[in-house]
Amino acid sequence: MSEKQRVLSGVQPTGNLHLGNYLGAIRNWVEIQSKYDNFFCVVDLHAITVPHNPKTLANDTYTIAALYLACGIDLEYSTIFVQSHITAHSELTWLLNCITPLNWLERMIQFKEKALKQGENVSVGLLDYPVLMAADILLYDADKVPVGEDQKQHLELTRDIAARINDKFGKENEPVLKIPEPLIRTEGARVMSLTDGTKKMSKSDPSEMSRINLLDPPDLIQKKIKRCKTDPIKGLTFDDPERPECHNLLTLYQILSAKTKQEVALEGQDMGWGQFKPLLIEAVIETLKPIQDKYQEIMDDKNYLDSVLREGAAKAREVANCTLVRVKNALGYLPPL
Ligand code: TYM
Repeated sequence: MSEKQRVLSGVQPTGNLHLGNYLGAIRNWVEIQSKYDNFFCVVDLHAITVPHNPKTLANDTYTIAALYLACGIDLEYSTIFVQSHITAHSELTWLLNCITPLNWLERMIQFKEKALKQGENVSVGLLDYPVLMAADILLYDADKVPVGEDQKQHLELTRDIAARINDKFGKENEPVLKIPEPLIRTEGARVMSLTDGTKKMSKSDPSEMSRINLLDPPDLIQKKIKRCKTDPIKGLTFDDPERPECHNLLTLYQILSAKTKQEVALEGQDMGWGQFKPLLIEAVIETLKPIQDKYQEIMDDKNYLDSVLREGAAKAREVANCTLVRVKNALGYLPPL
C-alpha cells in the first residue's frame, strides 16, 4: 500500500479543453502529482448528462486523455483511465442515489443553471450528475480533489453523502467511506469568459470567441484576444469590480508568464490595451505550443494511448471494486455466491 495520500479528479470529454480547465484543474494536478498517489479520469459518463454526439464521444475521450499526458501528467505518479471502463462508478452511483435526499440535488447551482438552458429536455442524469461525481471520488478513497471553484458545491455534497453513509451504515471508528477535501487554488480557480468578464469561461458557451481552447492554433488565439472584451480606460489594474475583464486578463497574463501579481500590476499601471494584448497573446501561445506538439505526437500513436488507458483501467478497477464491496457489505447485501 502506498503511504501517499490519494488524489482523484476528472474532466468531461465534451469537445475541447479550454484555459479555464487547464489553469483551474490540470495545471494543478501536474504541479502536485509527485506528492500524491493520483487517479485522473476522463468522465465520459458525465458527458451524456446533456445531449451529446455519439459520433464524437470516443474521439473526444481520446483527446482528453492525450491532453492529460501532453499537459504533463506523469504515469510514474498518476493513473489515467476512462470512467465508463470501470462499472463500479455506475453501481456505486445507484447505491448513493438511494441515500441522497432529492432536495440536496435540487439545490445544486450548476444543475439550476444548466437546467434553465435546456427547458423541458432536462434529463434525470443531469440532476443526478453530482451523485455520479461523488461516486467517482469516494470509490478511490480520495483524500484530496483538485478542482476549479465551480466544483466546490459538488465537493461539499460529496462530503455530505459520505458522512451520511458513515452515519447510517458505518461502525464506530470504522467509517465506510473516506471524506475527501477539495483542493482549490486561488489563482486561476475561476477563469472568466473573454466576451464577458462576469461569466466563467465555459465549454457550453455558444460563442467560440468566449474561450481559448488548448488546441487553438496561434492565429486563432491572436484573433480571440484581439477581439476580446475590454474597456476604454488606460492603465490596467487588478481587483477593480468595475473592470472584471481587466482583472481576468491581467490574471491570465500573470499566471502564464509566471510573474507575481505585484510585478504585473506595476507593468500594467500605465499601459493601454494596445500594448498589453500582444504580451498576453505571446504568453498564451508560448504556454500552449509545447502542449500542442506533445498532444499531436500522442494522438499519432493510438496504440500507446490505448495501452495507457488499458493499464490505467486495470489499476483503477482494483481500487474501485474493493471500495464497492466494502459499501455493499455495509449496506447488508448478500455477497455473490
Ligand atoms: P468540467 O469538465 O466542467 O471541468 C473540468 C475542471 O476544470 C475546472 N474549470 C475551471 N476552472 C477555472 N475556471 C474555469 N472557467 C473553469 N471551467 C472549468 C473545473 O472546476 C474542473 O475542475 N463535474 C466535473 C468533472 C468531474 C469531477 C469528478 C471532478 C466528474 N467527476 C470527480 C473532480 C472529481 C466537471 O464537469 O468538470
